[in-house]
Amino acid sequence: MLLRAENVKKQFGKEEILKGISLEVREKTFTVILGPSGSGKSTFLNTLSGLMPPNEGKVWFREKEITGMREKELAEWKRKSIGYVFQNYMLLNRLTVRENIEVGLYPGQESLDLQELVQTLEIDGLLDKFPGQLSGGQKQRVAIARAVIKRPEILFCDEATGALDEANSKKVVELLCELKQKFGIAILFVTHNLQIAQTADRVITIKDGLLHKDRINENPIPASEMVWE
Ligand SMILES: Nc1ncnc2c1ncn2[C@@H]1O[C@H](COP(=O)(O)OP(=O)(O)OP(=O)(O)O)[C@@H](O)[C@H]1O
Ligand SMILES: [Mg+2]
Repeated sequence: MLLRAENVKKQFGKEEILKGISLEVREKTFTVILGPSGSGKSTFLNTLSGLMPPNEGKVWFREKEITGMREKELAEWKRKSIGYVFQNYMLLNRLTVRENIEVGLYPGQESLDLQELVQTLEIDGLLDKFPGQLSGGQKQRVAIARAVIKRPEILFCDEATGALDEANSKKVVELLCELKQKFGIAILFVTHNLQIAQTADRVITIKDGLLHKDRINENPIPASEMVWE
């Protein structure tokens, strides 16, 4: 198993947001996480990816328990093995697009070809610009390039296509599926988009702090066949 969460609980103040969620994620799988706004999807992703420790419960990456790691080991794991696309991009405003993408590289690890990647995402003309000069959708694609360039073992995406139009969303989902196929990258993808959910191998729904549904998609549709309403 690539990633395993056991009875993860998280509260903010007195409010219990995650009430005990367990989940196992295999390599080379594309899992979509659905759920109402405020249901704790981002919180759950943050606990799985080591960004925020749960109040209770454990998370393992392969045989390593990440909830038991010391700060330095955790930081190293995050830098080497995981990619993260945040809901609000988190680009560094003083760095160019090229430099922002290069922040995602891990020294000594074979990376994706930058030129090929930016061409796929159609941001090749933006490499010398700064984030402040980009549209929301362009920033989002830069954030995706930064997250995948090091070929992470697992990619966490929080509304990674929220700011994109239909054509660009398709391109991003296609790219992610290709990365999964080619490199075995597992993807956990939070979205409200039910079309994207149809392209996933598995769809889980979080509701009232619990894992409400967990469904395997026997016949995921290719990203190119998604239809926006
Ligand atoms: N750092 C925090 N401090 C206090 N409360 C928080 C914090 N982060 C999230 N919350 C609360 O936890 C709940 C779940 O938030 P979360 O961001 O995980 O929801 P979500 O499912 O990702 O929603 P959305 O679809 O709108 O992004 C919300 O009620 C939110 O206000
Ligand atoms: Mg969220």
